[in-house]
Amino acid sequence: MSLKDSQEAVSEYLAQQGPLATAAAFGQQHTSISVYSATTVVRAPEAVVRGRWSPAVDGFVGEELLLNHRRSGRDLGMQLGVSRYYGHDAVTSSAHSELRERQDRAIALPQHRRLKGGLTSIVTERRSGRQFSGRACSLDELATVVWHGQGVTGSLPVPTAQDAGAAVSLRTVASGGGLYPVRLVVLAQHVKGLAPGAYEYQPHSHTLYPLQRTPTPVDLARHLWTADLEVDKVAFTLVYVYDLYVNSQKYGDSGLVFALLEVGGMSQNIHLARTALGMIACDQGGYDKQKLEKTLGFDGTSRHVVHFTLVGHGEA
Ligand SMILES: Cc1cc2nc3c(=O)[nH]c(=O)nc-3n(C[C@H](O)[C@H](O)[C@H](O)COP(=O)(O)O)c2cc1C
Repeated sequence: MSLKDSQEAVSEYLAQQGPLATAAAFGQQHTSISVYSATTVVRAPEAVVRGRWSPAVDGFVGEELLLNHRRSGRDLGMQLGVSRYYGHDAVTSSAHSELRERQDRAIALPQHRRLKGGLTSIVTERRSGRQFSGRACSLDELATVVWHGQGVTGSLPVPTAQDAGAAVSLRTVASGGGLYPVRLVVLAQHVKGLAPGAYEYQPHSHTLYPLQRTPTPVDLARHLWTADLEVDKVAFTLVYVYDLYVNSQKYGDSGLVFALLEVGGMSQNIHLARTALGMIACDQGGYDKQKLEKTLGFDGTSRHVVHFTLVGHGEA
């Protein structure tokens, strides 16, 4: 069969498979990304894939990370980083991470509720919801959601010669090396018994610590790209903030990957808890990272906003 024959045969076949032809055309135009795309005949639409007008201006950070992401036993940097964390000072610092929490103006949260409902039915019921009613939630509901996302649930003994009783606090979600580089910031809007504002959740003491900068619902709406959401009707927003140096000093580039995995675990627990509480929530990928970080007072260099979940009650 000549090339022409086979091309004709493929075209003829595709013509009979309406949706398949459309899907194949879309796939060719929009998903053929490769580091070699600039030099191959079929050019990827780089402005779409990379979000840049010109590849010369800036690279595709995700692609660069994966290409440089060394997960080999020969990665001396990572080996040195990991071995450094067996030292007494590193173990002591992990075992006393509660010292990073501030208690001077901390607000105690009620104990989390023990949620009922089978895991299978809650997982099946979980759905993103966008029709917020503006109804306030209780402090107890907020406490239950954040505790399921990040609460302390156990401890791992890590005795050293200098500190026989040292133990690392463990949480509801797994974290590479037990370092917990992701913090939850709560932007409270309609929470009974809690003044609207920005707070950091402190898992060890199960408290909220008020942050100095507090975005208003108007600020928040300005930084979100979602048109189908009434941000002022959300009870509270959870912002996942990654402290780059907490785990990248140990894991290098893998630190970011580990942190994003942790965010996924946290957000799933958060969604399952709010589902069991009869609340709705929606994750947000469309937001202005730089502006949001500026509004919250994060430098965007060592502390990064990496995810966002809106939580509240839906229409009855
Ligand atoms: C990382 C991430 C980002 C998301 N960003 C948005 C968003 O910006 N706007 C939105 O309406 N939904 C967003 N969602 C929700 C998805 O649209 C939703 O999960 C998907 O349509 C599947 O529906 P389900 O969650 O109801 O199962 C996001 C979800 C994730 C995990």
